[in-house]
Amino acid sequence: MEKTFAMVKPDGVKRGLIGEILKRYENKGLNLVAAKVISPSLDLLQKHYEEHKDKPFYDDLIRYMSSGPVFAMILEGDNAVKMVRLLNGPTKIEDAQPGTIRGDFCTNTTFNIVHGSDSVESAKREILLWFPEYMNKI
Ligand code: GTP
Ligand code: MG
Repeated sequence: MEKTFAMVKPDGVKRGLIGEILKRYENKGLNLVAAKVISPSLDLLQKHYEEHKDKPFYDDLIRYMSSGPVFAMILEGDNAVKMVRLLNGPTKIEDAQPGTIRGDFCTNTTFNIVHGSDSVESAKREILLWFPEYMNKI
């Protein structure tokens, strides 16, 4: 079964939206395999967002992601990678329709409340980064 990595970002945790967001993933048919509340280190965030290190929004992104604990998850199901990203909604907030998590709860592209891996390969990399204890299980 396909697995993906998803995360409720610091503003989602602060706003008490973990349950609401997890309910949407579970309602869709995805199963929670592992989860934890974690205050990510700078090193972990830099590795997670390595592909964006030269982008103009990178410093704001790292500052935002360092602003409090996140809720990190491994989810499993048919097309899990794609399903989580459909439920999350598009990156650009002006494109995020009501009905998606970003469309329903965000007004700003930086403070966009959720993360989902963008491919099966990214999911493997991110699961090992955030859940190294799963090393032998995926
Ligand atoms: P993630 O699931 O968080 O990886 O989002 P994504 O895959 O939809 O977007 P992407 O990986 O391209 O960007 C990572 C994060 O950087 C986004 O979630 C945003 O928080 C931020 N970001 C991306 N593009 C922009 C942008 O054009 N402007 C701003 N301000 N932030 C951006
Ligand atoms: Mg991404």
